[in-house]
Amino acid sequence: MSNIVWAASEVFPYAKTGGLADVSGALPQSLAERGHKVSVIMPYYPQVMKNFNKDIVIKKKLLGVPFGWGTEWAQILEHKINENLSIYFIEFHQFFDRPTLYDYDGVEFSDNAERFIFFSRAVMQAVLALELKPDILHTNDWHTALCNVYLKSHLYEEFDNFKNCKSILTIHNIGYQGVFNKSNILWTNLGWEYFNYHCLEFYDQINLMKAGVLTADVVNTVSPTYAAEILTAEYAFNLENPLQQRASEGKLRGIVNGIDIEEWNPEKDKELPFNYSISKIAGKAKCKKALQKEFGLPVSPKTPLFGIVSRLAIQKGIDVFLEAVEDMLIYDDIQFAIVGSGDKVLQGWLNALANKYPNKISFFSGYSNKKAHLVEAGCDAFIMPSRYEPCGLNQLYSMRYGTIPIVRATGGLEDTVINYEYSNIKDATGFKFWDLNPDALRGTMRWAASIFRDDRKSFNQIRKNGMSQDFSWEHTAKDYENLYDNV
Ligand code: ADP
Ligand code: GLC
Repeated sequence: MSNIVWAASEVFPYAKTGGLADVSGALPQSLAERGHKVSVIMPYYPQVMKNFNKDIVIKKKLLGVPFGWGTEWAQILEHKINENLSIYFIEFHQFFDRPTLYDYDGVEFSDNAERFIFFSRAVMQAVLALELKPDILHTNDWHTALCNVYLKSHLYEEFDNFKNCKSILTIHNIGYQGVFNKSNILWTNLGWEYFNYHCLEFYDQINLMKAGVLTADVVNTVSPTYAAEILTAEYAFNLENPLQQRASEGKLRGIVNGIDIEEWNPEKDKELPFNYSISKIAGKAKCKKALQKEFGLPVSPKTPLFGIVSRLAIQKGIDVFLEAVEDMLIYDDIQFAIVGSGDKVLQGWLNALANKYPNKISFFSGYSNKKAHLVEAGCDAFIMPSRYEPCGLNQLYSMRYGTIPIVRATGGLEDTVINYEYSNIKDATGFKFWDLNPDALRGTMRWAASIFRDDRKSFNQIRKNGMSQDFSWEHTAKDYENLYDNV
């Protein structure tokens, strides 16, 4: 049994902007259930975590965090889940007492370098203060990647707490790397000797993800296909060389994410007006009706209803969807229910289409967990035209909710969805397209809609195939255990 410290900038249910939070909420829990001792460390965001204050206690009143020229004083809070699992929060209002996590109205906070350099250092200091002796320090994405550097650095070499500790960096998204002006190296207390090609330096700036990739004992990402894709210039956002180096050392892996089958369970989901399961599917049609009503679309069981729940970011290919969809809005009997927040231009474009074709497309602009669950349950199909997708969770939620995913074959979408090709009706779980262009997406959406309308038997079979898949963390937790054992 291992002692694991899991560091992340967001953890569900406390704070979430995307899949990183889902994974950080579920995988540590699954590992704890399997007998490991897991300490999750995240920032305390008072403005988004109010509902949890009743569960949280002060664990350490004063946590000294060396930071630049001086020392800052933070506080460690704890939510103890059980004997094997504690969630620790670093409370430091100057950096984390904000209405959102990383940006405001699409503009990144200008002190994000300081905020997450500070947090990474605080994680290391918290391990000392809490007297943890981790076997594994598991970091996630650029926000905590610097912990890998700290672990190997002169700053922590003398501490017994880290003597037997190995580090793992999970890349959830290589598109975000934490690239900042090199002057920020001051905050790290590492010194300019770390500003070189083999560590923090990146085109004369600092790159926290890159430094993590090069110093972690093992790097993994959240699907095997994405692990291969990020070795190419097309997908690596200029980190292909460091990633190729780690891959050639056998230190880059890909493990597909699981999903929280309690949180995402159509049979018990409290966010839904009606529940259902593979054997009692009637509730799904009722959810469709409820969704059509809630989204102001005509209630029509026969009309194919397709959904999207997404960050509105270039990664997600929403622009391609928007180019593809208008032709369908003009000519087809079809409906779309969309939940998303992010990019202002995409938001405006979605609003414009929703105003122009109010009976066919409805858009909720913002973040709503409840609406996300309703879209997953009420739709017939779910669209993910991602430019790249490290894993993707929504296609997994969709399958579990009997909502057939229509996906671009990239990253985790390629690994988790089986394309329908007539002959494989027993196994198919969705519809795939390969080229990222509006014609390919539109063609695939129309193909799915035609199966829904004209070959309901096959449509229902594909739905059932998806609903019978097991995407629970059980498998994935075992894969991570192997990774820990190997390291
Ligand atoms: P990513 O992490 O790249 O955004 P994932 O598919 O891994 O993509 O995870 C996205 C998660 O965030 C899912 O749980 C999804 O339901 C949720 N989500 C995204 N946008 C919204 C939104 N506007 N409202 C509610 N949930 C959202
Ligand atoms: C990232 C990726 C997404 C993945 C999630 C959790 O946000 O964009 O594909 O599912 O992390 O690993």
